[in-house]
Amino acid sequence: MAKVILLCGSPRENSNTLDVLDVCAREIEKNGVETEIISLRGKNIQSCKACLSCRDTGNCILNDGLDEIIDKIREADGFIPGAPVYFGTARGDIMAALQRIGKVSRDTDKFLTWMVGGPIAVGRRGGQTLTLQEMTMFFPINNMIIAGSNYWNMVVAGAEGTAFEDTEGIQTIKLFAENVAKIIKKLGD
Ligand SMILES: Cc1cc2nc3c(=O)[nH]c(=O)nc-3n(C[C@H](O)[C@H](O)[C@H](O)COP(=O)(O)O)c2cc1C
Repeated sequence: MAKVILLCGSPRENSNTLDVLDVCAREIEKNGVETEIISLRGKNIQSCKACLSCRDTGNCILNDGLDEIIDKIREADGFIPGAPVYFGTARGDIMAALQRIGKVSRDTDKFLTWMVGGPIAVGRRGGQTLTLQEMTMFFPINNMIIAGSNYWNMVVAGAEGTAFEDTEGIQTIKLFAENVAKIIKKLGD
């Protein structure tokens, strides 16, 4: 069965981003595609060191667990990173992860090619659109397919557990999720 990996860039236990990714995953599953949510919480994700070792080894040599996440993404049909907004942009760890995932894909078997997805941003008040733009850069350069919705994939939430109060944001994510699943199934036809 087709599968989508959702990657959460929040360090918080009761993360709003995780709640939103959970909604997204459930909607994808409702539409007949398997999901797995992976969190960067508790990990110390390093930035790409430009060592280019991935060209020889096929994966990232930095020893922080991202290589195992890359192995899972390599087998998937869709990829959705979610980030909390920090100072108007994406939390650093998720961008470090995206840059390394992209570098490994481009320098090895280009496993991201035709993978379906798009970014999600969660913030208390402002910066979600810039965060989305920042994360969106990852998709076209890796020959991926971004699914749409009827608004941008952003949810307004500050305190823990408040993401569901943004009903418009949650509805936007559900439509995006449905589209991700539908595109994956069409591509598989
Ligand atoms: C260091 C830091 C910077 C933040 N900067 C912003 C910001 O620029 N804009 C915003 O709307 N929220 C900002 N927030 C609030 C978080 O985006 C918000 O609490 C969000 O729900 C966190 O998601 P999480 O629960 O998944 O970690 C900031 C939070 C922290 C800790």
